[in-house]
Amino acid sequence: MKTTRGKVEEIFLDGSARISCPPGLIPTPGQYLQTQADGSYPPLPVCLFPSLSSPNGFRSAPPIPSEWTPGKSLTLRGPIGRGFSLPPSARKTALISFDDSLSRLLGLVSQALAQKSEIVAVCDTVVEGLPEIVEIQPLRSLPDVLAWADYAAMDMERGKLNRLEKNLEALGQAAARIEAQVLLRSPMPCAGIADCGVCAFTSRRGWRMICREGPVFDLGDVI
Ligand code: FES
Repeated sequence: MKTTRGKVEEIFLDGSARISCPPGLIPTPGQYLQTQADGSYPPLPVCLFPSLSSPNGFRSAPPIPSEWTPGKSLTLRGPIGRGFSLPPSARKTALISFDDSLSRLLGLVSQALAQKSEIVAVCDTVVEGLPEIVEIQPLRSLPDVLAWADYAAMDMERGKLNRLEKNLEALGQAAARIEAQVLLRSPMPCAGIADCGVCAFTSRRGWRMICREGPVFDLGDVI
C-alpha cells in the first residue's frame, strides 16, 4: 500500500470523476482508495471505488464529494482491501447490483470478455456504456440469472445482507451451486488504520471488518 498524490481530471454528470494517479495506485475492481482532497473541511477522508480504467488513472464510481472540481489535488492511500477474483473457469458471469448503480462492477466486464465469458448485468437502474454483448436484466429476474450463471459478483450495502440471505434461501439449489462474491459497502472512516469498528458486521463466522477483510467477501463466508 502506498500514499501519493493524484488529481481530479474530469467530473461526469452521473457524479463520478476521472482521477489521475500513478499506475501502482489504481485499484482493481472491488478494491478502494482512501482519498483526502487538499483544503477540504471537515478534513474527512473519502473512500473511492473504481468503475473503469482511464488514461493514467481510473474513473471512480459515484458519488464523489460535491465540492470536488476538476484540477483538485488529492492525497491517495491504497489500493486497499480484497477485490473481486473472477474464476478463470467462469463462462457465465452475472454482475448484480442491489443498490444505486452497477458502476463498481463494470471493471469486471473486460476481464470476463477476455476469457470469453457471457455476461448478464442485473440492476434496476439505467446502465450506460456497456458493450452490446452484455445482456441487462432487472432485479426481479435474479432467480433465473442465478440458475444460469456459474459465477456472480454482487454489490450491496452492508444492511441488506440479511435480506439477501432470505432471498437466497428461497431460491434453494439455484443459489447453493453458484460461486459468488459480494462487495459490501459501509462507512469506512479509518479504512483499517485505527480499528474504529464502524465497518464491522456479524457473519456466521463472527465479527468481520469490511475495510480490512473485505470489502469483497466470498458469499459463503458472510451468509
Ligand atoms: S473503518 Fe475503521 S475499522 Fe473499518
